[in-house]
Amino acid sequence: MNIGILGTGMVGEALGTKFIQLGHNVKMGSRTANNEAAVKWTQAAGAKASQGTFADAAAFGAMVFICLKGATFLEVAKTLTPTVLMGKVLVDVSNPLDFSRGMPPSLSVCNTNSLGEEVQKAVPAARVVKTLNIVNAEVMVDPAKGGHPTMLVCGDDAEAKKAVAGLLSTMGWRDIIDLGGITEARGTEMLLPLWLNLFGLFGNANFGFKVVRG
Ligand SMILES: NC(=O)c1ccc[n+]([C@@H]2O[C@H](COP(=O)([O-])OP(=O)(O)OC[C@H]3O[C@@H](n4cnc5c(N)ncnc54)[C@H](OP(=O)(O)O)[C@@H]3O)[C@@H](O)[C@H]2O)c1
Repeated sequence: MNIGILGTGMVGEALGTKFIQLGHNVKMGSRTANNEAAVKWTQAAGAKASQGTFADAAAFGAMVFICLKGATFLEVAKTLTPTVLMGKVLVDVSNPLDFSRGMPPSLSVCNTNSLGEEVQKAVPAARVVKTLNIVNAEVMVDPAKGGHPTMLVCGDDAEAKKAVAGLLSTMGWRDIIDLGGITEARGTEMLLPLWLNLFGLFGNANFGFKVVRG
């Protein structure tokens, strides 16, 4: 599959590398076509890797991952041709973290709204799936490193969620729960303050949340 990655940070790099290892073709997108981190990653990742602008990566992917800082996708979306993501599975792994008032960060949107919902509103023709935002980048691509946690998925399109869950299982995710529609992103994004709390306590990011049922 052709996968577009919007973002050159640790998440974009980790996911891009994993997808290449799984045999996919990946284009990493940035604000500039020759972003230094993206060029470095492309050179290291081999023939199935390429880089370009956000628009290039969005056009390339049959599935496109949002790996951008905070809520910046909402601005990036305004720069994309309206049809470029039409019908595509748009996977939002980003978190609405706001560091403007210092540490710990707050959520720029929460309770009665979520970034996942705002992403879906920004690109109504795309099929948005929220997932992976509740673990560190290294655990995203190697769930064993986090002790095989549960992964939560939500979105309004059942087929899109199925496609994403399928990809997640090839990445090693064993316990995937479909929470329902994209409004359920509120809950997954509001896990972030708890995630940050645990990160501070443990001193490392090798953990996740496990849902157990009696
Ligand atoms: N780090 C983790 O382990 C982790 C885990 C779960 C979820 N997340 C979430 O995943 C997302 C990505 O995290 P990250 O740590 O990989 O990277 P990040 O530093 O949060 O974001 C890097 C990306 O954001 C883009 N960006 C920054 N400011 C921008 C702006 N004003 N307009 C457009 N694009 C902008 C950068 O574009 P350029 O390429 O042009 O510089 C870059 O591609 C975040 O929302 C984060 O909360 C992170």
